[in-house]
Amino acid sequence: MNKKKIQEEYLNKIELLKKYNKFYFSKSKPLVLDSKYDELKKEILLLEEKFKFLDSPQSPSKVIGHKPSKNFKKDTHRVPMLSLGNIFSEEDLNNFQKKIFNFLSVERDPNLLFSAEPKIDGISASLTYKNGIFFKGLSRGDGREGEDITANLETIKDIPKKILSKDFPIDIDIRGEVFIQNKDFQDIKEKFANPRNAASGSLRQKNSEDTKKIPLKFIAYTYGYEKGLAVKNQFDFLKKLSKWGFKTNPLNRLIAGVKNLIDNYNEIEKKRADLDFDIDGIVYKINDFALQKRLGYVANAPRWAIAHKFSSNKAVSKIIDIDIQIGRTGALTPVAKIKPINIGGVLVSNATLHNEDEIIRKDIRIGDMVTLERAGDVIPHILSVDIKKRSLKSKKFVFPQNCPSCGSKTIKEFNKVTKKVDAVRRCSSEGYYCNKISIEKLKHFVSKEAFNIDGLGKKIVEEFCRLKLIKFPQDIFKLNYQKIEKLEGWGRLSVENLKYSVNQKKNISLERFIFALGIRHIGLENAKLLSKYFISFLNFKNLSKNKNFNDLLNIDGIGETQVSSIKVFFENEINIKVLNELEKVLVIKDATTNQNDGLLKDKSFLVTGKLKGISRAEVKSLIEENSGNTVSSVSKKLNYLIVGEKPTKRKVENAKALKVKVITENEFLKMLNKTG
Ligand code: IVH
Repeated sequence: MNKKKIQEEYLNKIELLKKYNKFYFSKSKPLVLDSKYDELKKEILLLEEKFKFLDSPQSPSKVIGHKPSKNFKKDTHRVPMLSLGNIFSEEDLNNFQKKIFNFLSVERDPNLLFSAEPKIDGISASLTYKNGIFFKGLSRGDGREGEDITANLETIKDIPKKILSKDFPIDIDIRGEVFIQNKDFQDIKEKFANPRNAASGSLRQKNSEDTKKIPLKFIAYTYGYEKGLAVKNQFDFLKKLSKWGFKTNPLNRLIAGVKNLIDNYNEIEKKRADLDFDIDGIVYKINDFALQKRLGYVANAPRWAIAHKFSSNKAVSKIIDIDIQIGRTGALTPVAKIKPINIGGVLVSNATLHNEDEIIRKDIRIGDMVTLERAGDVIPHILSVDIKKRSLKSKKFVFPQNCPSCGSKTIKEFNKVTKKVDAVRRCSSEGYYCNKISIEKLKHFVSKEAFNIDGLGKKIVEEFCRLKLIKFPQDIFKLNYQKIEKLEGWGRLSVENLKYSVNQKKNISLERFIFALGIRHIGLENAKLLSKYFISFLNFKNLSKNKNFNDLLNIDGIGETQVSSIKVFFENEINIKVLNELEKVLVIKDATTNQNDGLLKDKSFLVTGKLKGISRAEVKSLIEENSGNTVSSVSKKLNYLIVGEKPTKRKVENAKALKVKVITENEFLKMLNKTG
């Protein structure tokens, strides 16, 4: 693809994102699902990563939050409203605390106090009080500048309009969360995707009378600008807030020690489903204001506070159907089609069922009511089945004994290493014979780490396969461009671009080539090892004739699982045909070894066993720094085998038989004058 076209595509995507933003934030009416929005954002960031020349001040990598809506007057926050960093585990929490100790340069203090506050998933607002009178209220906006939503905030009963307490500061911004209770959301759920959107939407009504109709709540938890605040820590501040007439969260706790924080987190997570408002984690804040001040801020977030997010979201829905998907290696993966349900702002309609055994173990059936869990970006899965809700007519799900795509028998293999039958059922066809497998293999072939063909993404591979334009990898290099030009969505320019990128990729390194073949268990790292071992495509292809598969066991990093998989690959005649055809259309570059002038010039090394005073990575870089090279297997070409503790016997024996010098770690270091 040419630069101009990429730039154009990039800017179009940014424009679309801006439009989504506008509807979501300013009009509070999302145009698309959150997942679709996230996808677009990701696409833009990926483009930027791939094509370094792309740049826009409007890029989501630069814009944080969003600009305030034009409906409201803008105003600057006297103290910016920052965000919080996220953590997800006990380990993260330990690190967070460790960083604090390091920064303060103190020993571990098991009594360091944190205010632990449930994090309500609503909309934050900053309320300015002057002489005890509610004077102005701003939304967060982009953190520096918010919208003046005073009139709407005034309709919220939880927000005190006048505070007479003597100890209330003469000028202060009280900050907290505006939200809607779940029971109130039920009445308006048709209009909004989730309670958070509902709160955001009603807060931004042009007419405050409309806001008034929706029972919004407010919980206070921090402050921005202040003059006359005589409190020394967060927990006392929370107590004061409630004395002054603000609502605070009844589940706020003062806690010391990671273990106690985690206990509290688990306890609240359990209670979560029973709460009448959505929370998405716990905020931990150093209690002592003096320490907070010393710790200060990093970029956009305080060093003294963090949000411990709940890792998952759960919901109950119905299984409408069970689909069987077929992967590149023929694995049959069952997927439950779910009656769409909103889990944490994302509409879920698919859940993975993992494999046949999982279905049997949980006795999952079509029509069942199930509890689903969605964690991070992974596909949701089923936690449990509600047997009580099952209909009397329900039948056990029978896993297909034949591949739904090509009809071949499906089998469960015996794994020689684990000595167990695989949980995964596979299509027993010869790879490309099965249409679905063929499509998945081709998608892998053109993927980023393999041939990385610009303009030939997954969707296009699917379309070309459906139109029978491609079936085998070699077909990609003999595309019928005239036919493609006539397809919907294609034109002269896009076809030229495709032709250009396909031709460009006819030159390929041996390691990428081996990876692209999609041999089971041969990922990028293994492909690298194999390419170093074979050096040339011809040596690699000759495996089909010389069948020296067991020699591959000498390669450090290659085990029996990989070797038997390579064997299966070479025993398949279609694969050999593919190799022969690809050889005709491609230029596959030999693997090279770098050399110059150093102490170890022209010497090759291999390490076996565990070394004592030095890591393998360091040995490798020492060798390379001194112009030597490391190889991955014992052969006549090897000069030195460095032997550590518990070496692979076979390597030592082979080395001795081939008269390769076998040396210790110390002897190696002596060669570099590193030890006396
Ligand atoms: S303190 C600099 N406390 O979480 C610290 N925030 O990503 C600012 N939130 O925008 C926030 N409950 O909307 C704080 N008890 C709590 C909170 C809380 C919810 C939200 C708030 C903020 C976001 C941080």
